[in-house]
Amino acid sequence: MRIVLLGAPGAGKGTQGRALAEQFGVPHVSSGELLRAEMAADSDVGRQVRESIARGELVPDDLVLSVVGRAVNDAMQTGGYILDGFPRTLEQAKRAFELAEPAGIDADYAIYLAVPDDVVRERLARRAEGRVDDGDPAVVQRRLDLFHAETEPLLEFYRDRGILREVDASGTPEAVRENVLAALR
Ligand code: AP5
Ligand code: MG
Repeated sequence: MRIVLLGAPGAGKGTQGRALAEQFGVPHVSSGELLRAEMAADSDVGRQVRESIARGELVPDDLVLSVVGRAVNDAMQTGGYILDGFPRTLEQAKRAFELAEPAGIDADYAIYLAVPDDVVRERLARRAEGRVDDGDPAVVQRRLDLFHAETEPLLEFYRDRGILREVDASGTPEAVRENVLAALR
C-alpha cells in the first residue's frame, strides 16, 4: 500500500499515518519528524532548518529533499509507504512522481484529511509536546496560509491522476480512521 497523506497542520497526518503504517506494515515517513530529528541532533541541516520551522515557513525544497529523499527512496523500495508532510509543494510532488512513476512505485492513493482552520487552531493549542511552531498563533496562521497557498494545489494534481480521496477529518481520531479506511475500500 502506497499512500500520500495531505492535510493542513494539525489535520491528523501523524496520528493517522502511524496507524495506517502499522496496519499495512509499511514505513511511515514524516518529513516534519525527520527535520525535527535533525534539529534535536543539532546537525548542520538541523541548524539550517531551525529558523524556517520556528517561523512556520516552508524549508527550501533542496534542503527537504536532502533530508527526506533517502527515507522516501528507501521506503519506496520496500514497495509500500505512508508519506506524511511530503510532498507539500507542487514542485516536490512533480519531482517525487518523476522518480517513482518509472519504477512503478508512485502512490496508490492521496488521502486528503479535510478539517476547518478553527479545528486546527484548537488542536495545535492543546498539543502537549510543546513543538516550537505550535505556541504562537501568528506562526500557526502562517502554517495554515502556506498550506492553502502551496499545498492545496496538490489536490488538483492528485485528482487529475485519479487517486485523490477526500476524507472528513474533523471528528475523533477513531472516526477519522474509519473514514480513511472507507475511502480505501
Ligand atoms: P510537519 O511536522 O509536517 O507539521 P504540519 O504539517 O504543520 O502538521 P502537524 O505535524 O502539526 O499535524 P499533523 O497533520 O501531523 O497532525 P497530528 O496527527 O500531529 O511540518 C513541520 C514544519 O516542517 C513545516 O511547517 C515546515 O517548516 C517543515 N516541513 C516539513 N515538511 C516539509 C516539506 N515537505 N517541505 C517544506 N517544509 C517542510 O495531530 C495534531 C494534534 O491534534 C496532536 O496533538 C494530535 O494528538 C491531535 N489530533 C489528531 N487527530 C485528532 C482528532 N481527530 N481529534 C482531536 N485531536 C486530534
Ligand atoms: Mg505531523
